[in-house]
Amino acid sequence: MDEKPSFWVRHEFLLRRLHSLTGLVPVGAYMVIHLLTNASIWNGPASFQAAVYQIHSLGRLLPVIEWTFIFIPILFHGLYGLVIISESQPNSGTYPYVSNIRYTLQRATGLIAFLFIGWHVFHMHGWIHSEAWRQLIDPWGGQFAPFNAASTATAAMQQSMWVSVVYVVGVAACVYHLANGIWTMGITWGLWTSPAAQRRADWVALAVGVVVFALGISAWSGFALRVDADDPQAMEAMRAVEQRMLERRLHEGLVTEEEARHKTAHRSGPRAESPEAVTSPGQAQEP
Ligand code: HEM
Repeated sequence: MDEKPSFWVRHEFLLRRLHSLTGLVPVGAYMVIHLLTNASIWNGPASFQAAVYQIHSLGRLLPVIEWTFIFIPILFHGLYGLVIISESQPNSGTYPYVSNIRYTLQRATGLIAFLFIGWHVFHMHGWIHSEAWRQLIDPWGGQFAPFNAASTATAAMQQSMWVSVVYVVGVAACVYHLANGIWTMGITWGLWTSPAAQRRADWVALAVGVVVFALGISAWSGFALRVDADDPQAMEAMRAVEQRMLERRLHEGLVTEEEARHKTAHRSGPRAESPEAVTSPGQAQEP
């Protein structure tokens, strides 16, 4: 009796191409833009805060955009990636040695990147917007307050040495996965088929990897090393900049009091190490 092939087998051609495409756009493209935005901290807290305000100016559309272009594609790419890994065959006899290592690393970094992104979104974002949940996960999750962007991201990154190390490992895994993934993508879509074309593509993948990793390290060091989170004066200076920017937006009606309450640092934990320094929205001094 003929057994009907599974859903995955019947739609493998389409699913593989969708998986390959989502790795580049939107997931890979998002990662590059995200790291660039974070690296803007090197221009000072006002520059990074302005970028975060721009993202949050999407208002009610923000969750829709986040789910459509970030979370759903990452979930699809990651979960279908797990299906591919579960079906992968040992291939030491088939490929030359370096290709074999790259094949294994592509799968290993995929797993690390998926776990890292899940934890990272919890660490910064907290996953769910509910006050009860936020209190429960404090100080491990939801460390980022969008209207105190630079000071809370700095405190979150320096929460412990381990947090900082996990970020470097996680970013390295994401970058390797994207750069080598661009190479494998060219195979999936038949862009480089001859050995000479594949060698040229090696250089493209290497260049992408080096540039994006440099970007990732700039983003990481911008929060891990630029300002010492244990230096109260330096942290206070960052919060003062953030407070002035919030006051201006409240004054211009670009931000409501309600939104300001939800998006400023007002809890215990590392993101509000000196709670008295974090004034409530109407109390701040104009510059
Ligand atoms: C040093 C490296 C990184 C830093 C400093 C960083 C910083 C941040 C911050 C502050 C947020 C919170 C944004 C918010 O809640 O509004 C965030 C969210 C997020 N990050 Fe990163 N990130 C880094 C690396 C990465 C990498 C490599 C990825 C891989 C794709 C990634 C994916 C995400 C995702 C998916 C979100 C949730 C987006 C959202 O809430 O709209 N991040 N990151």
